[in-house]
Amino acid sequence: MISPARAAAFDILLRVARGAWASELLRNLDLDERDARLASELVYGVLRRQAQLDYRVGKPRLDLEVRLALRLGAYQILYLDRIPKHAAVSESVELVKRAKKKSAAGLVNAVLRRLEPGDHDWPDPATRYSLPEWLWVRWVAQYGEQTAAQMAEASLRPPEVFVRAPGAAPGLEPTEVPGCYRALSLPQPYRQQDIGSQWVVTLLEIKPGVRLLDLCAAPGNKTATALELGAEVFACDLHLHRLRDFLAACPRVVLDATRPLPFRQKFDRILVDAPCSGTGTLARNPEIKWRLRPEDLMDLQRRQVAILRQAREALAPGGRLVYSTCSLEREENEEVVALAGGLAETFQRLPGVHAGDGFFAAVIRSS
Ligand SMILES: C[S@@+](CC[C@H](N)C(=O)[O-])C[C@H]1O[C@@H](n2cnc3c(N)ncnc32)[C@H](O)[C@@H]1O
Repeated sequence: MISPARAAAFDILLRVARGAWASELLRNLDLDERDARLASELVYGVLRRQAQLDYRVGKPRLDLEVRLALRLGAYQILYLDRIPKHAAVSESVELVKRAKKKSAAGLVNAVLRRLEPGDHDWPDPATRYSLPEWLWVRWVAQYGEQTAAQMAEASLRPPEVFVRAPGAAPGLEPTEVPGCYRALSLPQPYRQQDIGSQWVVTLLEIKPGVRLLDLCAAPGNKTATALELGAEVFACDLHLHRLRDFLAACPRVVLDATRPLPFRQKFDRILVDAPCSGTGTLARNPEIKWRLRPEDLMDLQRRQVAILRQAREALAPGGRLVYSTCSLEREENEEVVALAGGLAETFQRLPGVHAGDGFFAAVIRSS
């Protein structure tokens, strides 16, 4: 018998390996709460610690289904102390049989049975922090080894939960960002939004009635915060169907912001929350680190530069534009601003150094 949580986790990991997003698949799971929680823990744990698990398992050339069953079993044995080892082993054996890889059942059984939890000597930092080698090398070059290690460690931990709330309440701890509270207990009746995402909106210095052009708005987290602060928001995106329903009230425009914008008026505030690699969100979206290629950064940069150039054209005299990403890579941040932003003041939040996801933001004022 395979438990529903493990079967779901295996199927999700298989689909993620083929390009789907774990968070979307987990959101639409048809499981009771306890199973859904375990499935989520397994999926994120395996994706976050993939390089560590593969190293401990030590079997690189196997079919995907077999590798996934081994990672799932190894994660439970090495990192979850409440799961009996025999359950983790036997369910991974059943998972390979269910995936029609019966011939690998003996191997999965033998490999998992010899695994023991406990500290381990890792062969290199990329394995220790479960990051692709190229990403570790570039973080060290950009931030130095100590900060890179803090960022990498943070990407292995489940993200803390932050919410927007009107004031202090049981289970909420205030933060340095106004209106942003750390949720110490769940569930909370308030809308969840990472502290870094809420912080980006503060840089817009929104006052009630100010007109804000939000050029990359979907799914709408920052739009929602700007609306709460009293802005009149024009929410635009290439894929507006991704915009959350609760934003239906504000004007919405489907557009490609790399092209000339369709507005005759200029805006006092503009937010370019650009499409990016998302390397600041590896704790939340761990599949990114296994999917991203170094060459993707230049493609993203071209798009980001094009969007920022169009945005600057729409900024009113005396206006304020915020360019932001949840990327930690300078190609998507400082370089974009240097190529298209003009004079800017830049800010950064780093995972493991600051609370929440990593964010970069540049504030550009019109002359
Ligand atoms: C980082 S997400 C925005 C997140 C959003 N601001 C929030 O806080 O919920 C980037 C968005 O840019 C959109 N996008 C990508 N290319 C675009 C383009 N050429 N023009 C406009 N939007 C684009 C994507 O559809 C995606 O929704």
